[in-house]
Amino acid sequence: MARIELVGLSKTFGSVVAVRNLGLTIEDGEFVVLVGPSGCGKTTTLRMIAGFIDPSAGEIRIDGRVVNDLEPRDRGLGMVFQTHALFPHKTVMQNIEFGLRMKGMPAPERARRVHEVADMVHISHLLDKMPGECSGGEAQRAALARTLVTQPSTFLLDEPLSSLDAKLRRELRAECDRLHQALKRTFIYVTHDQEEAMTLADRIVVMRAGEIVQVGTPMEIYSDPANYFVADFFGSPSMNLLTGEIVQTNGTGRFRGAGFELALPDGFKSARAGVATLGIRPEHVGVTLGGNGDIELPVRLVEPLGRDTLLYFDAGAERAFIAVSEGLDMADVKVGARMALSLDPRRLCLFDADGRRLAPS
Ligand SMILES: Nc1ncnc2c1ncn2[C@@H]1O[C@H](COP(=O)(O)OP(=O)(O)OP(=O)(O)O)[C@@H](O)[C@H]1O
Ligand SMILES: [Mg+2]
Repeated sequence: MARIELVGLSKTFGSVVAVRNLGLTIEDGEFVVLVGPSGCGKTTTLRMIAGFIDPSAGEIRIDGRVVNDLEPRDRGLGMVFQTHALFPHKTVMQNIEFGLRMKGMPAPERARRVHEVADMVHISHLLDKMPGECSGGEAQRAALARTLVTQPSTFLLDEPLSSLDAKLRRELRAECDRLHQALKRTFIYVTHDQEEAMTLADRIVVMRAGEIVQVGTPMEIYSDPANYFVADFFGSPSMNLLTGEIVQTNGTGRFRGAGFELALPDGFKSARAGVATLGIRPEHVGVTLGGNGDIELPVRLVEPLGRDTLLYFDAGAERAFIAVSEGLDMADVKVGARMALSLDPRRLCLFDADGRRLAPS
């Protein structure tokens, strides 16, 4: 059992506020991913939970008990770090059993436990190797095994896959997922990779500049971003974000962007006039050659990916406006061709000048 509560948790380093007034409850067995750009306070949060850093304010509770004053080893948590940090002069076996040896566990029991976890993360054949003789992926598996073997109630993982190449990262990501399902323990996983967050999390906690911006399931975060920052952070290719303004004429709101104008969908007809950003995901843009649409734009680039085709348009902004078309129907479209784009009105997002999402009325 491990239900973890963070209550008004803050940390300042001199004049730097690394974490500000965090409030979050992580349920027993949940897989929660903390995600956000570099420097937003993810590691600091995790290290406070682990007990390596004292909070400047606030409480950490595990199963209802305040643990602020407990030593890391007495919290029953296991941490896997950004860099795997194995002891270089010990074998993989000795690395994994180190924690158990410290606890004074007898050798036969130690060996049994080490073999069990080594089997779990597929490194049984590596136990006699030195860390220097392991590949990055193998070393990271060994680091995972070293934490697994202590049987913590909660796993705290700080970007455990960031030093690996894309293919290994996907492989080990699936492994983490499988371990979570098998062990039914609480996982708190830190990453700045939105794709990792989307694929692993039961719930995503989006952080920015030391604060929580939004908490939700991957689908909630993706479909219902709380603000411009979240909308822009999640999704690949990212959400199209067009700056412009909302104008009101005779009680019907319209959005006026660079070189286009469209009627706002129901719910936004009376949105307040002013500077705004319109957001729409590439998969919610319909494209036709020569038909009618909300916007007409020239094609800048066509990228056939096999399953889909990505169409990049010149929208007068730095970033291209992107539409995804299923299959290869659009693969032969010529650069420069003007296409009609229709934006699914149910999927439009509008943000005010401060990046806040406008709610439909
Ligand atoms: N020991 C420290 N002393 C001073 N400032 C620190 C210390 N640790 C972290 N900070 C600062 O606190 C802020 C948050 O750092 P943190 O390491 O938690 O970010 P992060 O989200 O983990 O970033 P990354 O994705 O780069 O790992 C940063 O501005 C960082 O410079
Ligand atoms: Mg970090």
